[in-house]
Amino acid sequence: MNQDQWTAVDRYFTELLAPADEALAATLADSTAAGLPEIAVAPNQGKLLNLLVSMCGARSVLEIGTLGGYSTIWMARALPADGRMISLEYNPAHADVARANIARAGLEKVVEVRTGAALDTLPELQTEGAGPFDFVFIDADKVNNPNYVAWALKLSRPGTVIVVDNVVRGGAILEAETDDPAVTGTRAMFELVSREPRLDATALQTVGVKDYDGLLLARVVA
Ligand code: SAH
Ligand code: DHB
Ligand code: MG
Repeated sequence: MNQDQWTAVDRYFTELLAPADEALAATLADSTAAGLPEIAVAPNQGKLLNLLVSMCGARSVLEIGTLGGYSTIWMARALPADGRMISLEYNPAHADVARANIARAGLEKVVEVRTGAALDTLPELQTEGAGPFDFVFIDADKVNNPNYVAWALKLSRPGTVIVVDNVVRGGAILEAETDDPAVTGTRAMFELVSREPRLDATALQTVGVKDYDGLLLARVVA
């Protein structure tokens, strides 16, 4: 098993089950052209998020970490016509690219991209009375993963589903002594989730075009 094989199998799945349409392909092309890092979820992971949102019957989604809006579009497409999605993005240049991609996908009435550090915009959402959200996808600066899970809980209801991306990072998650803040942040997030009686959770390792990584999946129980 190696990266070439994981990539080939992902391509096989993607062609059959999660083929790109014009809006998704243009989202990735324009993101790359604008110099954004190529770190969006894989197509079959985007489709997983889309299926999870629809399996939950979610009417509202909160995303932390928009980039060019690729995962945003996958999730927003699973919402009903009167659904609502808010995606939080620190980098104004990323947010601009995302808004254009979201508009081209015909989702500008469903999705709001809000610019700012999520730890500033999340309290704003609470003050505005936004939420509770039915589904939360956390995919921003990994050092803040414990803060983002805590905020997701504040903006949740029993039954809300929370997904955290990139929780394995090639196995780095096991490096208890590391000073990599992404790893210490994600380990602190796992400890928080394991102790939090309001959350029931599991985590999965994944391989594919995005190498060896994983997802945490949690459900708010109370
Ligand atoms: N969810 C996207 C990928 C997100 S990449 C997708 O799969 O398509 C992570 C994004 O989080 C980047 O755009 C980065 O600018 C943003 N980010 C980093 N720190 C942040 C912060 N403090 N608040 C909000 N967004 C942040
Ligand atoms: C990185 C961030 C991501 O959200 C991701 O899915 C892959 C890589 C990164 O910062 O390197
Ligand atoms: Mg990610």
